[in-house]
Amino acid sequence: MSRIQLHGVTKQYGDVTAVDGIDLDITDGEFLVLLGPSGCGKSTLLRMIAGLVEPSAGRLLIDDRDVTDVPPGERDLAMVFQSYALYPHLSVARNIGFPLRARRRSRADIRQRVTEVAGALDLGQLLDRKPRELSGGQRQRVALGRALVRDPGAFLMDEPLSNLDAQLRTSTRANLSDLHRRLGTTFVYVTHDQIEALTMATRVAVLNRGRLEQVGAPAEVYDRPASVFVAGFLGSPAMNLVDATIETVDGRLLVRAPGIELPLWPGETPAREVVLGIRPESLVRADAATAPIRATVELVENMGHEEVAHLDAGGTRLALRGPRPLNLTPGASTGLAVPLAAVHLFDATTGRRLAWRDTPQPAAVESEFETAPA
Ligand SMILES: Nc1ncnc2c1ncn2[C@@H]1O[C@H](COP(=O)(O)OP(=O)(O)OP(=O)(O)O)[C@@H](O)[C@H]1O
Ligand SMILES: [Mg+2]
Repeated sequence: MSRIQLHGVTKQYGDVTAVDGIDLDITDGEFLVLLGPSGCGKSTLLRMIAGLVEPSAGRLLIDDRDVTDVPPGERDLAMVFQSYALYPHLSVARNIGFPLRARRRSRADIRQRVTEVAGALDLGQLLDRKPRELSGGQRQRVALGRALVRDPGAFLMDEPLSNLDAQLRTSTRANLSDLHRRLGTTFVYVTHDQIEALTMATRVAVLNRGRLEQVGAPAEVYDRPASVFVAGFLGSPAMNLVDATIETVDGRLLVRAPGIELPLWPGETPAREVVLGIRPESLVRADAATAPIRATVELVENMGHEEVAHLDAGGTRLALRGPRPLNLTPGASTGLAVPLAAVHLFDATTGRRLAWRDTPQPAAVESEFETAPA
């Protein structure tokens, strides 16, 4: 079990800053997911933790020991790579058991661990096969098993489920969460898949262009995204993000955008540009005569258990998601409303979340808006 601390960790490749001054404290036993789009620096950061890539700047501590210059083999970490290689001439059982044989553990011990891990990854029936007799997804699970068979201070995993089909991905996800609970070992897990992040992580670290946008529990990053980037990256379909202005009208704050006039609560604010964020599942239908948003239905998509309606509100495109059937037909007009608690506001220039006092009572409202801390 290990605590991993990063202080200003940076990686420069010529002109490219792949990882840019990351500060992160990964606590012992945590399942931390590094989440972000392709090229944002996830693998580079993980490889620096593993010791496979040397940081250009910054320090790395494992259990309070500075390991920045310690070789990979002496960091007590097990890593699963984005692309993996198995020993082609060895059976599945011997591939999985390989790290234990290298450490000269007893045969009985090896057999027991291999059986345990193979069971958890649903590989029990395949132990005698050679890698070439396996599907891509099965091979990937063998690679995962080879890491999990050890008992390291922490597991580092780089998109270990990327080759699995949807169904296997779901079951392997559950197996990994379960293993994490049972082992209590620190996991650092890289993915660009938000569902993997939200379902498995104890905390999610969202990366964008080598920088940390937000670190928090899954519910926190989803419910209170710290920036426009995080708001747009998590959620499917993506959060509706609309350029808007906020102003005071008759002692009440009002958000305005084409097709939208959304009153908030009593108070005063200097007029300012914002980005208004509303999740597709937060939009509800309302009486067109009084609703703050009026829109025309353009397209309705059937997602199986739900429908997604794409609407046009005076030139602003909005998505609404809800249980099927929504009873919206293309061409129809409808009123839309949104609960105040589901309104997200971001600074138009910095993209950071705007926070306001939690009690929207007149006496408590002065200059409500302040930029939320990163
Ligand atoms: N060895 C290298 N030399 C030069 N540039 C590199 C090298 N490795 C990575 N980069 C660059 O650093 C940036 C981050 O790469 P990295 O592989 O860490 O991204 P990633 O988040 O893991 O992406 P993906 O999701 O596609 O795997 C990219 O712009 C990449 O092109
Ligand atoms: Mg990568």
